[in-house]
Amino acid sequence: MTHTQPRVRISVVGCGYLGAVHAAAMAHLGHEVIGIDTDEQRIASLSSGVAPFFEPGLDDLLTETLASGRLRFTTDPRSLADTQVHFVCVGTPQREDSEAADLSYLAAAIATLAEHAAPGSLIVGKSTVPVGTAAGLVADLADSRPDLGLVWNPEFLREGFAVRDTLQPDRLVYGLQEGAEGARHRQQIDEVYAALLDDTQVVVTDLATAELVKVAANSFLAMKISFINAMAQLCDATGGDVVDLADALGHDTRIGRRFLGAGIGFGGGCLPKDIKAFRHRAEEIGASLASGLINEVEQINLAQRDEVVQRVSAWFDGDVRDRRIAVLGAAFKPDSDDIRESPALQIAARLAAAGAEVRVTDPQALPVARSRGPQSLSYVDSLDTCLDGAEAVLLLTEWSEYRALDPHLAGRAVAERRIFDGRLALDPDKWASAGWHYVSVGRVDRAPR
Ligand code: UGA
Repeated sequence: MTHTQPRVRISVVGCGYLGAVHAAAMAHLGHEVIGIDTDEQRIASLSSGVAPFFEPGLDDLLTETLASGRLRFTTDPRSLADTQVHFVCVGTPQREDSEAADLSYLAAAIATLAEHAAPGSLIVGKSTVPVGTAAGLVADLADSRPDLGLVWNPEFLREGFAVRDTLQPDRLVYGLQEGAEGARHRQQIDEVYAALLDDTQVVVTDLATAELVKVAANSFLAMKISFINAMAQLCDATGGDVVDLADALGHDTRIGRRFLGAGIGFGGGCLPKDIKAFRHRAEEIGASLASGLINEVEQINLAQRDEVVQRVSAWFDGDVRDRRIAVLGAAFKPDSDDIRESPALQIAARLAAAGAEVRVTDPQALPVARSRGPQSLSYVDSLDTCLDGAEAVLLLTEWSEYRALDPHLAGRAVAERRIFDGRLALDPDKWASAGWHYVSVGRVDRAPR
């Protein structure tokens, strides 16, 4: 490693998903970090080394960095006066009255920084924001605290891989103010990331482009998923196989295989919200090409859920009343307990609304689902209880234990051997050989053999 490893005094404002991981990761790199949040419970949990959400590897990283003495958490904003670089990691959820991003937490964070930040310190924005937000903040700070700098440094971490993505990012993006000021800020941010620079591509750009990179990346990923789901419809109509199609497309390095997973579509706290906010901003600006594209992406995504409900209902001649349905997976994706915009739960709730008796299981997301998920569903801890007497099984979140399910064993528990593979995670012939009707999207159905 050619770079020296400076120790920077860092604050992380907002200790939700992004902030908690970022704070622990920065302390792991050797910096002195203080995580600040207004939520006392969250701060208490993080201070005791326990993440308030499920994220593989994070509890260990918290334990390690708290024990080193380089990481602390507090609700006291006066700690900002002792730090040189402030990462802003607050949430930007969807507004209640429109599809726009709610920037009130960001405004509150900046107001707190303007009141408490040390003279000449640097604010680094990581939250996902509509393009133009950072320029507005620079203008506001010019009045209240012209000594504070601003860099926009979007975050691309995925739930389930958040620690790895933070410590080994694909790229770092620095959105800088113009001129000498920007050059000085770059030096400051380079000091923070010094340990990563040898192995990481750095893209240096302006504030607006840095903001756009984040929403464009999430929109592109969403577009890839909707593209392959549109291809699945074509495969269904023509007897093609969308998995073979995706494999063949993916060998073209210009296309790539990742995010060509067809099935029930995308959910979570990021992609659905970010594409809506992106469309809203594009419409405000008059960028109709971008907003039109996002409309299609979103429509295809929602249509996948209708398709599943229809296919499952077709097994029961369109009437699922009192049918016992087992749903495997509640989280929006595996290795996460996040149920926000979970396609699995939305499909399950629609079947329950049509009168089905739906049991849902999940390795991690049940506590969250029980308190915040649809109350029309029965949440059961054991896979066996979920499968017991089921007349149809729906695999909707591809946890590794569901991928590895033995069709013979599962077959003994259910009343009818019907499986809907919503994530194209199973081997259709293996299931058909074990006596199952296998149905999915973009693949020829298999009759039991
Ligand atoms: C996404 C982005 O991947 C991150 O780069 C970004 O930093 C993050 O949003 C964010 O904005 O904070 P995440 O929400 O954790 O990360 O989830 P993804 O792994 O992107 O998956 C999103 C959804 O797409 C899931 O429901 C997943 O099941 C679905 N998906 C993914 C598919 O349906 N097909 C695929 O091929 C891949």
